[in-house]
Amino acid sequence: MRSNVVILAAGLGTRMRSQRAKVVHELAGRPLIAYVVRAALGVHPARLVAVVGHQAEDVRRVVEREVARSVGEEDPKPRLLFALQQEPLGTGHAALAALEALSAEEGPPYSPVAVVEEEGEAVELWQKWEESSVWREPLVLLYGDMPRVRAETIARLVAAHLEGRAAATLMTMLLEDPTGYGRIVRDAQGEVVRIVEETEARPEERAIREVNAGLYCFDPKPLFGALRRLKPENQKGEYYLTDVVGVLTSVGYRVRAIQSEHPEELLGVNTRQDLARLEAELRREICARWMREGVTIRDPDTTWIDAEVVIGKDTILHPHVHLEGETRLGEACEIHAWTRIVDSQLGDRVVVRNFTVIQGSRIGNDVRIGPFAHLRGEVELADEVAIGNFVEVKKSRIGRKSKAMHLAYLGDATVGERVNVGAGTITCNYDGKRKHPTIIEDDVKLGSDTMLVAPVRVGRGAMTGAGAVVIRDVPERTLVVGVPAVEKKKLEEDAGGSSSAG
Ligand code: UD1
Ligand code: CA
Repeated sequence: MRSNVVILAAGLGTRMRSQRAKVVHELAGRPLIAYVVRAALGVHPARLVAVVGHQAEDVRRVVEREVARSVGEEDPKPRLLFALQQEPLGTGHAALAALEALSAEEGPPYSPVAVVEEEGEAVELWQKWEESSVWREPLVLLYGDMPRVRAETIARLVAAHLEGRAAATLMTMLLEDPTGYGRIVRDAQGEVVRIVEETEARPEERAIREVNAGLYCFDPKPLFGALRRLKPENQKGEYYLTDVVGVLTSVGYRVRAIQSEHPEELLGVNTRQDLARLEAELRREICARWMREGVTIRDPDTTWIDAEVVIGKDTILHPHVHLEGETRLGEACEIHAWTRIVDSQLGDRVVVRNFTVIQGSRIGNDVRIGPFAHLRGEVELADEVAIGNFVEVKKSRIGRKSKAMHLAYLGDATVGERVNVGAGTITCNYDGKRKHPTIIEDDVKLGSDTMLVAPVRVGRGAMTGAGAVVIRDVPERTLVVGVPAVEKKKLEEDAGGSSSAG
């Protein structure tokens, strides 16, 4: 039987003290809620409902993006719905918003439209419509702030729910320190009676170490009924979803609880400290995983690898390397200490020396970069390119075997193959108002301190003298010198480095 999943993500996240919604704060480079969405999709729900409210648009974007990227070609597509919780009046209120949205989309659950008296007895009149499957399938409900939750755990809960024939099944965990969590109150027979939130708990209840994880499986109809009966009569003046348990048991429904064997995966993020703790844990796991996959990580304690990063075998990461966002490294690369690589793809056998920053770049095989290099924004380096000390490359393409080894700036440039960019060369790409392109064709040699005032083109096999200020296009195989640069002489076929020269 398929299930439906509701994720609550409309809260303010007051304890984060943030302008941003809590669930879009990032853990190892991914928004918290993205993790929860992916785990939820792992059980292949028929419908996925996200309850949004605070900064609804941001949260919605993240959820849509995650659904788009996590649902595989072969997977059954879930129906994605957003329920708007107008005001953050509590988790019970948010859950009700989800069920109301489902009701509006799918038709309400089959229920009596009226009760009439017939010969002194109450008789229910039923509406005659086909009830949507949503009201018969198990409804999983979880919070958007529990990023470590795994699909297996959700699946296990659903299985236990179907097997246990209860109106609700909750996941609980035993914590050394239960502070902040709702406590599970059981009766003498060990049956769950209710959940008491910390703010309402009496001292003996506070001592209970079994807590509510915030992951539930419900029969939707009794849930719908119970949610409508919630009252915000507590310290916070909120509708607590957790009160549903007491409501259900008080009218004779059974509520089951299963204890998690991995409480660490169910911890919620409420504060920035929680976030840092989870991040430290996740980071260790990510490093361990890549080491198992054949990556050498010399110091996992100082190596930061975001959740989506992919690394090839036999790549070596030195201490203090940060690999962020959608970064992919090929095989047998070596990344030296204090290097940061963001949203970039590197081929095989790429060596990046110390203190280099690479962002938004695509780098071929056998490339050498750094130390102290900066590549940013749409940089493409072909195979065997070498970028050296204090060289900045922005939005440029550099062809095979070309080199810029010292103190250069290449911006908005297209550089051909086997080009040698002399020390101190600068593409003067900005005239104060607009950016202009520079084209450097194959086999060009630029003398030290060449200024290329864009827009400008340096023809194939040409050369510039040291200190040349190039303000006009340079023809092929021509040496230009001076300020402004003028033609000194034509070069022999291979004087500027023929197509066979390295
Ligand atoms: C909640 C539970 C607590 C449980 C803990 C597990 C309640 C009342 N308490 O407490 O029993 O032990 O989680 O981590 O449910 N949200 C909304 N709308 C709202 C309020 C919250 O959508 O009006 C969402 C939030 O975005 C968040 C989730 O619900 O993702 C949980 O809210 P939060 O305030 O973090 O609940 P806790 O106090 O942690
Ligand atoms: Ca929480």
